[in-house]
Amino acid sequence: MSNQLHIAQITDMHITDTDKPFHGVEVRKKFLEVIQVLKQRPLDLLILSGDLAAEWGEIESYQWIKKQLADFPCPFIVMAGNHDKVKNLVQVFDLPSTDIVAGMLCFTRRIQGKLLIFLDSSNYTLPTAQLAWLATQPIDEQALLFIHHPPILCGSRFMDADYGLQNIEETWGTLAQFPLIKHIFCGHYHTAKTLQNQDKQIHLTPSTSLQIDTQSLEFTVEHTTPGWRTILWQDSQITTFVEYLDSNDAQVTK
Ligand SMILES: [Fe+2]
Repeated sequence: MSNQLHIAQITDMHITDTDKPFHGVEVRKKFLEVIQVLKQRPLDLLILSGDLAAEWGEIESYQWIKKQLADFPCPFIVMAGNHDKVKNLVQVFDLPSTDIVAGMLCFTRRIQGKLLIFLDSSNYTLPTAQLAWLATQPIDEQALLFIHHPPILCGSRFMDADYGLQNIEETWGTLAQFPLIKHIFCGHYHTAKTLQNQDKQIHLTPSTSLQIDTQSLEFTVEHTTPGWRTILWQDSQITTFVEYLDSNDAQVTK
C-alpha cells in the first residue's frame, strides 16, 4: 500500500436546485469543469467541505451533486457549511448515524492508515458538545482537521465583520490540547490563504463558484474562476497548494 495520501478539497460549490445561476455564476457548469479535472488525478479521497447547496440545504442540489459524483474514481466525503442542512445531507448521501454528534456532522475517518477529523460549523459555531466530543478523541498521532469555518479571523473585511466563526476563543481552548493537529483545512471565505495561529496552520480553500474580494467591506466578487486545494500527505510531511481552472482556455494554474 502506498504511504501517500492524495486528497482534493473542493468547497463552497453553492449548487442551485435547478440549472439557474447563483450570483450570476453558472455554478453547476463550474463544478463539472473542476470535477472533470480532478477525475484525471490519482486521488485517494475527495472532500466537499461545506456549502454544497446554494442557500438553504436544497435537497435537489444534493441529489444533483450525488449524481455527478456517481462515477467519480475515488471515495468522497461531504461536510456541512452554513448553507447546508444536516438532515438533508444525511438523507441524500446516506450518512451513518454514528457520524452525528448533537445533530451535527462530526466524525473521524482513517484513509490509507492516516487519521482525518471532520467538525461541523454549520451554525457559525463549534458547539460545546462537539468540542467535548473532540476532546475525548484519542489523537496520539498526526491528524488533519477539516472545518467549514476557519477558527480564526482571516483578514477578509466583509467576511470577518459578520460571518466568521462565533466562538473562536472557546474553540482554541480545545484545539490547543492537540499538538499533533498541525493543519486545519477550511472553506467559507471564498479565498485562498494560509494563516498561522499558535502551532497550527489554517488553510483557506477557494470556492468552485466565486471568490470574494478580501479588501472590500461590502460583498464584492473578486473573480469567478473556480479553485480547489490539493493535499499530499507522505510519511509525516504535508504538502498543500491551491489551483485554479481558467475556463476560457481550460488551463490549470497554481
Ligand atoms: Fe459558508
